[in-house]
Amino acid sequence: HAGHDMGAMAHAPAALPEGEALRELPLLANEAGRPGLFRARLTAGPATARFVEGKDTPILAYNGTSPGPLIEAHEGERVEITFANRIAGEQSTIHWHGMPVPAGQDGNPMDPVAAGADRVYAFDLPEGSAGSYWYHPHPHGRTAEQVYRGLAGAFIVKAKADPVPAAYGDTALVFTDLRLSADGSMPENTMIDTMNGRVGDHVLVNGQKNPKLAVAMGAKQRLRLYNATNARFLRLAFANAAMTVIGSDGGLLEAPVAADEILLSPAERVELVVAFDRPGAASLTTLAYDRGWMGPGRPADAGLTLLTVDVSDAPAEAMPPLPERLRPIAPLGTPTVSRRLVFTETMAMNPAGMEMGFLINGKAFDMARVDIVARAGDTELWEIVNQADMDHPFHLHGTQFQVVERERDGKLAKPPYLAWKDTVNVARGETVRLLTRQERPGARMYHCHILEHEQLGMMGILDVQ
Ligand code: C2O
Ligand code: CU
Repeated sequence: HAGHDMGAMAHAPAALPEGEALRELPLLANEAGRPGLFRARLTAGPATARFVEGKDTPILAYNGTSPGPLIEAHEGERVEITFANRIAGEQSTIHWHGMPVPAGQDGNPMDPVAAGADRVYAFDLPEGSAGSYWYHPHPHGRTAEQVYRGLAGAFIVKAKADPVPAAYGDTALVFTDLRLSADGSMPENTMIDTMNGRVGDHVLVNGQKNPKLAVAMGAKQRLRLYNATNARFLRLAFANAAMTVIGSDGGLLEAPVAADEILLSPAERVELVVAFDRPGAASLTTLAYDRGWMGPGRPADAGLTLLTVDVSDAPAEAMPPLPERLRPIAPLGTPTVSRRLVFTETMAMNPAGMEMGFLINGKAFDMARVDIVARAGDTELWEIVNQADMDHPFHLHGTQFQVVERERDGKLAKPPYLAWKDTVNVARGETVRLLTRQERPGARMYHCHILEHEQLGMMGILDVQ
């Protein structure tokens, strides 16, 4: 394959090998030795990866691997994870994206772990918290770079009673994207990358480009898809296989929903059951999606193959059907408070050139300013208004929310199903209305999950009292 003779193409991006067997993510071992507790250690620090034959790529990794180890814990358990920051000269944190953790354990930018220091994150996983979460750094001003250099991992909370048949397996697919120079190094961002968010040359699945999965004919597979890229929108379809959505950011839906395609904006997750009923190859591919861009350098995303599935002729053992009902979701009900958050981009000329501002309600993030004060237990209606030229995936810490309505060009749309979400894309010119209720006091972040935008100021602080 390509990737061997790069001498003549010194300025071109590196080519990566494709078609290797899909690696399972390494599992983070539970060292507690007693039931009810998940205890482990995660060390963030420099490592090297081999993406291209004969070339070492310096990366950042958790416990030496990128994506980081898969964490699998259970509803009802207590989690105690010692975080060791071994990134030279940089603060870091671990943010437990989407998880119901106390504010002091949330790994937010106000609570950094200094280079060389350790800290313990401890929290309980309540009943009903089963879902597909993830973890990543969240230090002030360094989040985007630490994530694109390799720091992100999946965190699955397993249900006590799972309605999805075990025969479907349970495979986590963590999407990251990589920009790689021919010499194997990751280049610095340009000004345009900073404005758009860094989008890589290669979309990787569990660290591999277009890996291969082998299944038997008639098999159904449970796949958890994580968009852990900084800024890439993944509009996905399965060729030659049938997709059913069974879960969102915060766990299972009420009932399965057949889907021809899904849009996964940065930080979103989806749980699928995919039925491989036709022999030959099936593949997970990308469709074009225009999320709005500044300047040149847009990725050509239509028609990329992210994962190839070889469906064997030998039939699978008979698979139990997916239940018609997965779990009840109680609607959040009537709000007593409503808020409006307006996302804008501004442009200014300064001696260094053109500079863009990424603002919420006219303000850039200030660590010393509380933007919203809320009461624990109140149901609130949040209206997220995108008046900017790019889509901005909105993320709220501390709880999951329910999207109730979208409005664009004067047209209202209800979401097709009720779901728990912690990240929702707000397209250019769109307004998204959602219901949210914070249960725990303390400071919480809300921000655009294009991490470069978060870093440039599209973030605020919610103080829950
Ligand atoms: Cu995934 Cu505030 O982050
Ligand atoms: Cu944004």
